Amino acid sequence: MTISVGITGLGAYLPERRLTNLDLEKMVETSDEWIVTRTGIKERRIAGPNESASDLGVKAAEEALKDARLTAKDIDLVIAATITPDMFFPSTACLIQHRIGADCAAFDIGAACSGFPYALAVAQGMIKSKFSKKVLVVGSEVLSKFVDWKDRSTCVLFGDGAGAAVVSEVDKDCGIIATYLGADGSQGDLLKLPAGGSLMPSTHETIDQGMHFLKMSGSEVFKVAVRSMSMAVNEVLGRAGYTIDKIDCLIPHQANYRILKAVAEHIEMPFEKVFVNVDRYGNMSSASTAVALYEAVKSGVVKKNSTVVLVSFGSGLTWASCLIKW
Ligand SMILES: CC(C)(COP(=O)(O)OP(=O)(O)OC[C@H]1O[C@@H](n2cnc3c(N)ncnc32)[C@H](O)[C@@H]1OP(=O)(O)O)[C@@H](O)C(=O)NCCC(=O)NCCS
Repeated sequence: MTISVGITGLGAYLPERRLTNLDLEKMVETSDEWIVTRTGIKERRIAGPNESASDLGVKAAEEALKDARLTAKDIDLVIAATITPDMFFPSTACLIQHRIGADCAAFDIGAACSGFPYALAVAQGMIKSKFSKKVLVVGSEVLSKFVDWKDRSTCVLFGDGAGAAVVSEVDKDCGIIATYLGADGSQGDLLKLPAGGSLMPSTHETIDQGMHFLKMSGSEVFKVAVRSMSMAVNEVLGRAGYTIDKIDCLIPHQANYRILKAVAEHIEMPFEKVFVNVDRYGNMSSASTAVALYEAVKSGVVKKNSTVVLVSFGSGLTWASCLIKW
């Protein structure tokens, strides 16, 4: 008998500190006008100096557990999606598992901004194969600590935050209908953090050269983002035998307002159906789709029986989409 798997609880956490475009004007040569017209971003959240990805993730996870009316002891797998882990190892998932008081398997997923839909697909597979019953998926990022605050072409784009979902068996007529995951490692150079790994271990020189900061070819990434997210939406719809007019809400990765506009045009979806919060948070990598889904549900935009597509794109390059009947 096939099992239906869906999201039964959601949580989010955004650090208190807001960094506005006006604040950025005092840090690099930029303007509120440039940032708003080129990206749609007005402000982003910044974690405190002692706040890490697991700190944000624990807060989002605790809310998701409460929302699902479960305790940490009910969870039998924790998956954390992050490119800004507390440290290389132990995994951020293990740190979250311990701090929420769960007693189960835990691992991180490295799919950058596509991490949340990637992790949802893995959670669905683990439940369908009967390895797990209740999976906690967390997307948590503290990108502010990996951004070069002297590089105006990247520092205006990113922000910190976390979102979490409890994934479990649901009624037959709802849940995750189809997923689609993709990657193209040949384009990995377009968006990367070069140093600190086994290829380029940390040295005084790598630090002096700023190689521990995120590097991006912005306009190249823009084009691939539009192409791959549009393709990923069409692919997941095709897999489920759905057409775009059956979708009530598109929850895309929030990288740039202009990317969202272009994707909506490509897939011929009215822009009113696209959930947007990039203006308030910027790009939070794996936390973006998680927080957007949380806000769409909590604000009533997504409700019982809504048909939703999550779609994301990120470093790797990776892309992912997930069709859900709420
Ligand atoms: C980064 C991005 C906003 C830049 O917008 P763009 O329209 O492509 O702009 P360009 O890179 O062509 O730069 C245009 C000019 O603005 C300048 N510029 C870059 N950042 C600036 C800033 N913060 N303020 C003012 N000017 C800036 C550039 O130096 C360039 O100047 P030049 O023409 O004198 O060389 C856009 O390419 C983008 O969003 N890319 C995708 C990024 C993304 O989504 N990444 C994450 C994926 S998960």
